[in-house]
Amino acid sequence: MKQLSLTPVLLLLLGVLACQPAGDQTQTSSEPSAPTEEEVIAHGEYLVNILGCDDCHTPKMMTDQGPVPDHSRRFMGHPADSPLPEIPASVVGPNGWLLFANDLTAAVGPWGVSYSANLTPDPTGIGNWTEEQFRVSITQGKHKGLPNGRPLLPPMPWQGYSHLTDEDVHAIFTFLQQVVPIANIVPTPQPPAQ
Ligand code: HEC
Repeated sequence: MKQLSLTPVLLLLLGVLACQPAGDQTQTSSEPSAPTEEEVIAHGEYLVNILGCDDCHTPKMMTDQGPVPDHSRRFMGHPADSPLPEIPASVVGPNGWLLFANDLTAAVGPWGVSYSANLTPDPTGIGNWTEEQFRVSITQGKHKGLPNGRPLLPPMPWQGYSHLTDEDVHAIFTFLQQVVPIANIVPTPQPPAQ
């Protein structure tokens, strides 16, 4: 008797299973398709804006409210033709101050003087870089993203960027590769003694 009463349940189950393929198909067609190039660029721009790459990599215009990014020179890095003001040796050191140039594209500290890099797609920027070089550079802090590249100096905050996903790095790289290229050979960093 018990076995007989199970039959309606089994029939119901079979009915449900029979409906399954239709359900699966619906799910497949609603899966998100790969993002378009436009969507990747928009995501890259969003990330670059919230990660504050302009803070250091874009020269500024000085206003009453302080320095604001000059978007006509976006991502050119420290302008080669803009010499630094004299650095007061007495205030910089392991127990002293860190100083930023007033456009925030150069900084001095116990590591010496560092200059923010040109991130535009010009050959003097990252125009000749592969995406893999870019990924290693910003997630592992290696100059030019080369396996034997020197460690990137402060204040490049690559330690935080080491958590970026490959997808996010791809979006940032794709966005940067289509900004206006600017020729600018950024000075090489100076060691502390100088
Ligand atoms: C607080 C300042 C600061 C911020 C914010 C910053 N950077 Fe940098 N970045 C630097 C400095 C300074 C250097 C040069 C370091 C050196 O010479 O070792 C640098 C170097 C780099 C390099 C290496 C260039 C090379 O020649 O190896 C890349 C790539 C880079 N930054 C990308 C980015 C991106 C993308 C962002 C935003 C997601 C960003 N940076 C945010 C200051 C900053």
